[in-house]
Amino acid sequence: MRNILFRRKSIEELLKKSEQRQLKQTLGAFDLMLLGVGAIVGTGIFILPGTVAATHSGPAIIFSFIIAAIVCALAGMCYSEFASSVPVTGSAYTYAYIVFGELVAWLVGWALVLEYGLAVAAVATGWSSYFSALLQGFNIIIPKAISGPFNPAEGTYVNLPAIAVVLAIAFLLTRGIQESAKFNKIMVFVKVGVILLFIGVGIFYVEPANWQPFAPFGVNGVLSGAALVFFAYLGFDAVSSAAEEVKNPQRNLPIGIIGSLLICTLLYVAVSLVLTGIVSYTNLNVSDPVSFAMQLVNQDWAAGVISLGAVIGMVTVILVMLYGGTRLLYAFGRDGLLPKAMYELNEKYKTPVKNTWIFSILIAFCAGFTPLSKLAELVNMGTLIAFTIVSIGILYLRKDKSIPTSGFKVPFFPILPICSFLLCLFLMTQLSIYTWIACGVWFLIGLLVYFAYGRKHSSMNTNE
Ligand code: ALA
Repeated sequence: MRNILFRRKSIEELLKKSEQRQLKQTLGAFDLMLLGVGAIVGTGIFILPGTVAATHSGPAIIFSFIIAAIVCALAGMCYSEFASSVPVTGSAYTYAYIVFGELVAWLVGWALVLEYGLAVAAVATGWSSYFSALLQGFNIIIPKAISGPFNPAEGTYVNLPAIAVVLAIAFLLTRGIQESAKFNKIMVFVKVGVILLFIGVGIFYVEPANWQPFAPFGVNGVLSGAALVFFAYLGFDAVSSAAEEVKNPQRNLPIGIIGSLLICTLLYVAVSLVLTGIVSYTNLNVSDPVSFAMQLVNQDWAAGVISLGAVIGMVTVILVMLYGGTRLLYAFGRDGLLPKAMYELNEKYKTPVKNTWIFSILIAFCAGFTPLSKLAELVNMGTLIAFTIVSIGILYLRKDKSIPTSGFKVPFFPILPICSFLLCLFLMTQLSIYTWIACGVWFLIGLLVYFAYGRKHSSMNTNE
């Protein structure tokens, strides 16, 4: 029994498979930074500097952003070492299969489904707020009862725009949309452009008195804020999953990861400073704080442009995350841990149409009927669990002598992976008790699925 639960995939076998793919090594450090910023910047920057400042950190939210960035940078290094040693799809799920065996891999994968799924739902909810604000600029009002974050107490019963955007993007994915590098580059410039516009216009309306008190909720507020704004950095693992296609990965991968995190941190800190400088943090608990602040200072044109940029920018994050989730289910189906239907490709479009629809409909439901803050916390929990496993996994990976030595290696081994592990654990302790309970329930369901189905149908059964 013990052997079954901890049976591992062999690196040699996975490498043999990946050799057949022969991806070209073309990406440099700058390309990686663009890729990173494209995948990272989405809802977080347009919403969290307002809501988290109002409820957790106050203007000291800038420190929350910096702490979260440090945790991500350390975990990003660990991801990169795995990605360049084991360049196959599946991210943390595959890595755990190699070092910890099937049961841990399944649980990490299960946590990632939570991350991808709820991240899509959370971003869709944010998208809906900015979309409604944008339409309002054209005097088109969607009734509050059917738009905005779910909150029956305030008269919002369903978030229809959020449901619609998830289903529309699911449709695109079933048709096999390719996320091209060119499209990504344009998006990055649109997103960064509207953020710079906000900073450039807003800076003239900053009243330093609004920064007092600077840390109204104390150190605890800053730390719990860090666990929440962590969400704004998700997506940077996209950089490490490109490891196979990077020129000189030993040099370019860390520059790409640290560089994109640095750019995002600068943007996040600048937006937070300007936002909390224009409006007192006490008034920022709204669903579209950045355009709200612009309207408050009568810069309606800037509010409109920012809403448009946000609406376009968030779509790419939804696309990437939804894609990630469906491909994870695909890997589960391939490995026999979920029914083979998850692994079926549509004959015409060559995409996993069935799994895309099942996944997307469930997510659309969450987006329509769950409040944003609850979604974001659970997403962070799922991700932090994956990060802890990947960080500690490096210690085991280094023991395996079959790993090629030429790829990227985490510096200051073993101190850095251990710090990464401990910091992720620490951030997890900062999340609310409800998030822990919800996450516990999610894992119990995961264990049930594994023991009732995965263990018996795993493709490893036939390999033994
Ligand atoms: N980092 C992504 C965002 O902020 C998830 O939207």
